[in-house]
Amino acid sequence: MMKDPLLQSSAAALPGASLQKVCKLLVLFCALHLSVTLLYFMFGGESSYYTEPQQNQIHHKVNSSNEPSATQEPSSSAPAIGDCPDPSPLLVGPLRIEFSISVDLEQVRRTNPNVMEGGRYKPKDCKALQKVALIIPFRQRDEHLKYWLYYLHPILQRQQLDYGIYVINQDGNATFNRAKLLNIGYMEALKEYDYNCFVFSDVDLIPMDDRNIYKCYSQPRHLAVSMDKFGFRLPYNQYFGGVSALNKEQFEKINGFPNNYWGWGGEDDDIYNRITAKGMSISRPDAVTGKCKMIRHERDAKNDPNPKRFELIGRTRQTMDQDGIKSLTYKVIKTEKFPLYTKLTVDVGPPPR
Ligand code: BGC
Repeated sequence: MMKDPLLQSSAAALPGASLQKVCKLLVLFCALHLSVTLLYFMFGGESSYYTEPQQNQIHHKVNSSNEPSATQEPSSSAPAIGDCPDPSPLLVGPLRIEFSISVDLEQVRRTNPNVMEGGRYKPKDCKALQKVALIIPFRQRDEHLKYWLYYLHPILQRQQLDYGIYVINQDGNATFNRAKLLNIGYMEALKEYDYNCFVFSDVDLIPMDDRNIYKCYSQPRHLAVSMDKFGFRLPYNQYFGGVSALNKEQFEKINGFPNNYWGWGGEDDDIYNRITAKGMSISRPDAVTGKCKMIRHERDAKNDPNPKRFELIGRTRQTMDQDGIKSLTYKVIKTEKFPLYTKLTVDVGPPPR
């Protein structure tokens, strides 16, 4: 029988006993290596393998929040997928606002097909940066409301907000109480959706530039800074009337708005006092972006200037922690869901004699 020449030569090179020893050592080494590897995968290796993806998950969660995060990394972590860009690419800037045209709400509904019942909207292609409840204090101003809806729905959609419109209608004919209606709007809107921003707007004020974003900022925001009625400037530096925006935290910090201003005037000055008393400041757009137009009208019945307003404004710091959202009482009489807005008719109670 022919022998394998290679085998023959190596066998010849090593003596039999040494070859056996080398083979045994080799097998032992392989077995040891195999068991160490197995043990590593079964017990030791697993946790460290999954550490990184878990951290990444948490990281993404933080980034997907709507609030700007102080811990966000500049370029390494891209914004969470689907967040709407800031600013919205749909903005067009200055707008022509006229009140001589006639507005038909059925037509407004048709031209805003993505607005859902109750005046709710959210962008389809991206996650809105904020969830905004728009609160309008109201009584017998249907004509003005038509213009407001006609102009604001397209603007708010271009601003890519997740929003809802709440018209808070004061029941009865007693003296009007704007700030209390706003408090009620805040409470009621929150019962419906997890809003994180509240824009309080008079029904007769329309922004003239869609870059004046109806959202919340790191400080309470005054939006109606440049009204035609005041010659496109602030009537005074502390003015906080017309349209303002506060996030939930800012609103809670000042105990909401006062409930005891009956009739015209002063409640917005009280809100200003509350904000500064709690160490916050007012944020505003510039005078061009902040331009807005007011629908001219006669003074409403039962909304005469409040003679007590000066005295009340002088005592904000003493009264604000008691009078506000914590002491608010009211009754909802009727809830109506219209295609372009939600209307809540509320009993605010009687004014003091
Ligand atoms: C009133 C405010 C009002 C402002 C501008 C002030 O005297 O107190 O409530 O917004 O005038 O009309």
